[in-house]
Amino acid sequence: MSTPSPTALVTGAGNGIGRALALRLGRAGRPVALVDRDAAALAAVAAEMSGPCCQVVADVCAADAAARTRETVEAQLGPVGILVNNAGIAPKLNGKGAGLLQTTDAMWDEVMAVNLRAMFRFTREFVPPMQARGWGRIVNVSSLGGRTRSLIAGPGYMASKAAVLGLTRSIASEFAADGITANSVAPGRIGGRLEEATDARINQQYLAAIPVGRFGQADEVAALIEYLTGEHSGFITGAVFDINGGFFMA
Ligand SMILES: NC(=O)c1ccc[n+]([C@@H]2O[C@H](COP(=O)([O-])OP(=O)(O)OC[C@H]3O[C@@H](n4cnc5c(N)ncnc54)[C@H](O)[C@@H]3O)[C@@H](O)[C@H]2O)c1
Repeated sequence: MSTPSPTALVTGAGNGIGRALALRLGRAGRPVALVDRDAAALAAVAAEMSGPCCQVVADVCAADAAARTRETVEAQLGPVGILVNNAGIAPKLNGKGAGLLQTTDAMWDEVMAVNLRAMFRFTREFVPPMQARGWGRIVNVSSLGGRTRSLIAGPGYMASKAAVLGLTRSIASEFAADGITANSVAPGRIGGRLEEATDARINQQYLAAIPVGRFGQADEVAALIEYLTGEHSGFITGAVFDINGGFFMA
């Protein structure tokens, strides 16, 4: 079988896990499409990339974001074979997720739109070219908060990240026969912007509950995702990968 070298697309590539993954995939020789709503962050990552890449400044929630992204990326880097739906938000109120009684309809809708609906739309847009190629890799970034109780996440975040697992299993079931795999990655506490946005006391509580005794690093999550997007992961589909330092063991 010939080795495919498809273009990879990473949403939320401007920071954190998405940035680390884009750099990794680039180092591995993949052309990478970087998607983020933060133009400055995206340009900084593009400047660090070692291979071919293109930048798409887009809010993944916009109704036309997926179609516009596909048009731009296909024109510059060809069809996408690897889709990583990573962009996500974890809104905080006073350093932790708002409780159910404080969650407004607007807060609920926003977190669902970014963390779940955009993932559905991007997948719907990018599956057909993967079907045509008979090969595809989709990784959807969920969260520890979608797997079990959370010390910081609110109801919208937890519901959206749990729904990511169901959506991913649905994608995996429907397109396995087309050579497309779909898996979820569920990170626990990863150092970076989400950590900084969290109340210091809660971060301390978290640290104390992590058996390996530290927060994870964005590049550790990126390395796992890189494996799931590669040639050797074709027998893994519909799975959830916990990466949380032992905080939650399924
Ligand atoms: N960091 C953690 O501890 C942690 C834990 C569990 C899950 N996660 C998940 O991992 C993913 C990445 O998180 P991170 O920590 O790297 O976050 P981050 O905030 O460092 O980076 C996220 C990137 O996504 C972009 N983004 C957000 N909303 C967007 C939108 N509507 N359109 C386009 N771009 C958008 C941001 O601009 C940012 O560049 C998220 O889905 C998050 O929920 C993170």
